[in-house]
Amino acid sequence: MVYIAKFLLPVVMFMGLLPIQAQAQKNTSFMPGEVWKDTDGNPINAHGGGVLYHEGTYYWYGEYKKGKTILPEWATWECYRTDVTGVGCYSSRDLLNWKFEGIVLPAVKDDPNHDLHPSKVLERPKVIYNKKTGKFVMWAHVESADYSKACAGVAVSDSPAGPFTYLGSFRPNDVMSRDQTVFVDDDGRAYQFYSSENNETMYISLLTDDYLKPSGRFTRNFIKESREAPAVFKYNGKYYMLSSGCTGWDPNIAEIAVADSIMGTWKTIGNPCTGPDADKTFYAQSTYMQPIIGKKDAYIAMFDRWKKKDLEDSRYVWLPVLIKNGAITIPWHEKWNLEIFDK
Ligand code: GAL
Repeated sequence: MVYIAKFLLPVVMFMGLLPIQAQAQKNTSFMPGEVWKDTDGNPINAHGGGVLYHEGTYYWYGEYKKGKTILPEWATWECYRTDVTGVGCYSSRDLLNWKFEGIVLPAVKDDPNHDLHPSKVLERPKVIYNKKTGKFVMWAHVESADYSKACAGVAVSDSPAGPFTYLGSFRPNDVMSRDQTVFVDDDGRAYQFYSSENNETMYISLLTDDYLKPSGRFTRNFIKESREAPAVFKYNGKYYMLSSGCTGWDPNIAEIAVADSIMGTWKTIGNPCTGPDADKTFYAQSTYMQPIIGKKDAYIAMFDRWKKKDLEDSRYVWLPVLIKNGAITIPWHEKWNLEIFDK
């Protein structure tokens, strides 16, 4: 054993002979429902999120939920909330180890009427890249604390890691917009999927070429089926939408639907989840579907396991989407990595 006199220790460390500080541990597998730490060692804070792949890097955007969860004293339903902090962004090359890039759309603290004031609600942010304009465009659910506003908010940036400039909110196609996602098709057209008509009907709305507004072309889908939490992907020329039922922060059964054309007609296939608690979506709710770049027919299904009384500590449930002979399943795994797609 080498004995190093105490007074020599700082010198030896300075010379790089001993590690000065243990690096944050590298993540080597997905562990759905466990605390997932970023490269600084802090729990990842990106709820109701989505991923964007851009030039070799994945960016994960989500609700940065900080601080105490409360149920407002006027609440007539379980609208548990944290104050709006903003949208957080993380970057990664391997989907397992995420570096915090900061709050890319922060709350606006000094204007109580602003959509992004802490007293409001900001949910389900998704970012898409517009090749024509070179802009990164964020769509999010912008709400009042009592969820009566039901609007979509849009923000833009020149860089995937922000900062984003908030452009404002509106009701797309003059109807309510709550749970939402955006999807870019292979031809560059982008669509917003949003729960509307009091969450009863899913609208699919073609966006303008700059992705900043609805184009005016839309369809009503899953009419009176109360689908929420839409997550969309394309496989083998067909469109798929994973969604949840409508039970607030509490879990329910997921459903996947398929369409030949993105604006419909959509046909419900059933619940793709398998394994323990598959009928409760593993106590989680869908938020996004991310293709794995460089692997064929490989997707990650992203869910949130909401902790309604401590929303900041809500966990992530990321699972592989397995496609066999055209059948799609999302099987539970306690621990897994991308090698699953090579089998
Ligand atoms: C869920 C929705 C969440 C959040 C929550 C509030 O149905 O998917 O994003 O809005 O309700 O209770």
